[in-house]
Amino acid sequence: KHLALWGGRFASGPSPQLARLSKSTQFDWRLADDDIAGSRAHARALGRAGLLSDDELGRMEAALDELQRRVDSGSFAPIEDDEDEATALERGLIDIAGDELGGKLRAGRSRNDQIAALIRMWLRRHARIVASDVLEVVSAIIAQAVEAGHAVMPGRTHMQHAQPVLLAHQLLAHAWPLLRDVQRLADWDARIDASPYGSGALAGNTLGLDPVLVARELGFSKVTSNSIDGTASRDTVAEFSFIAAMIGVDISRLSEEIIIWNTQEFSFVKLDDAYSTGSSIMPQKKNPDIAELARGKAGRLIGDLTGLLTTLKGLPTAYARDLQEDKEAVFDQVDTLEVLLPAFGGMIATMTFDRDRLREQAPTGFALATDIAEWLVKNGVPFRHAHELSGACVKRAEERGGELWDLSDGDFVEIFSHFLPADKAPAVREVLSVEGSVAARNGKGGTSPARVREQLAGARATLDAL
Ligand code: ARG
Repeated sequence: KHLALWGGRFASGPSPQLARLSKSTQFDWRLADDDIAGSRAHARALGRAGLLSDDELGRMEAALDELQRRVDSGSFAPIEDDEDEATALERGLIDIAGDELGGKLRAGRSRNDQIAALIRMWLRRHARIVASDVLEVVSAIIAQAVEAGHAVMPGRTHMQHAQPVLLAHQLLAHAWPLLRDVQRLADWDARIDASPYGSGALAGNTLGLDPVLVARELGFSKVTSNSIDGTASRDTVAEFSFIAAMIGVDISRLSEEIIIWNTQEFSFVKLDDAYSTGSSIMPQKKNPDIAELARGKAGRLIGDLTGLLTTLKGLPTAYARDLQEDKEAVFDQVDTLEVLLPAFGGMIATMTFDRDRLREQAPTGFALATDIAEWLVKNGVPFRHAHELSGACVKRAEERGGELWDLSDGDFVEIFSHFLPADKAPAVREVLSVEGSVAARNGKGGTSPARVREQLAGARATLDAL
């Protein structure tokens, strides 16, 4: 028997081709629990409006409980003829409660306000899981930063040695964007926290249902202010999708760094065996697949966002069926992140750094040239000249095939001669150490051990507050 939601004016059911196109149970069935919760709240609203008697409401709630049990056990599931999760659940309810009572639940609601509410409920719940997974990653980064202590490494811009930094500083640079992503989820939650239930198909309902109580029962603190907006807008879904894509991008940038650090040439970091893969043909291989998958999945997460925005662009309000396309995008993002983040966090937690190598590389590539220039500035040389003098030191060291500290006192005396007395010049050596260099960068947010300690406390406090 075909159980369409719209028998009345139709002479036939949908063609098989239409039914196949229209069907969404293969992805929206995961909204079933939220739908049943919505139905419970809606039934009570019907009861309060006098549209269900106490007895009917009691039987309706018992039927919904039974439906939930059947869904949980898998004994009730969508069949080929069900268009979407709502269609399937109405069929399931009528199976249990009968036509008479089961057929009453649909009064005063439309699948348009229903689905708009469900995607919000589902996303809010999963956003909390994603947020806690991101915070696990942040915790792992912070633990590595603590472990790193005062270890130094080459800091880079344009991938070229720039200035030495603390390893902890570099690691924490990846913690902050992820903390902001979780803050973004919290900010976003305040905006998506409005129930569209009661908006009906687009214009509201005539039955005097109280949407405020429904909202409260479904965990919303308020009701959408405009029923057209309530049913037709998906900006809050798109905003979630952006945050999911941003998490992917932030994870991907750290991944890229780990992939490079993990190369033979860099050899800065070793990944734990349990978080690395081998090769089917090359026995020596140990590959950073988690980082590569993270980098790859960032592309997929961005694709989901792009697809969703493209679907929304140009849609007239109110509801159009295109809106059904919102779900797979964010389901895919959530599924992706819920699998990716735990693996990624495990990789971060278990990787180990070769500190000797980092220490040895930190000052190379003339990474202390800025320190020479700033030392000259402290000795009264205008920066423009100081930059040039330091550049001359680099040039000479490069010609000699050495580093800055290989220059002789005589070299410094000669290069600085127009600006500094000969007896002062050799003292520049005091800044030609990595420890001196990082310690000197002592302004707020800088890489000195004291500032990094302060930063670590700040990151921990931010984490704990989330
Ligand atoms: N399954 C649809 C969606 O996910 C909701 C159904 C609305 N259908 C309709 N003909 N108004 O958006």
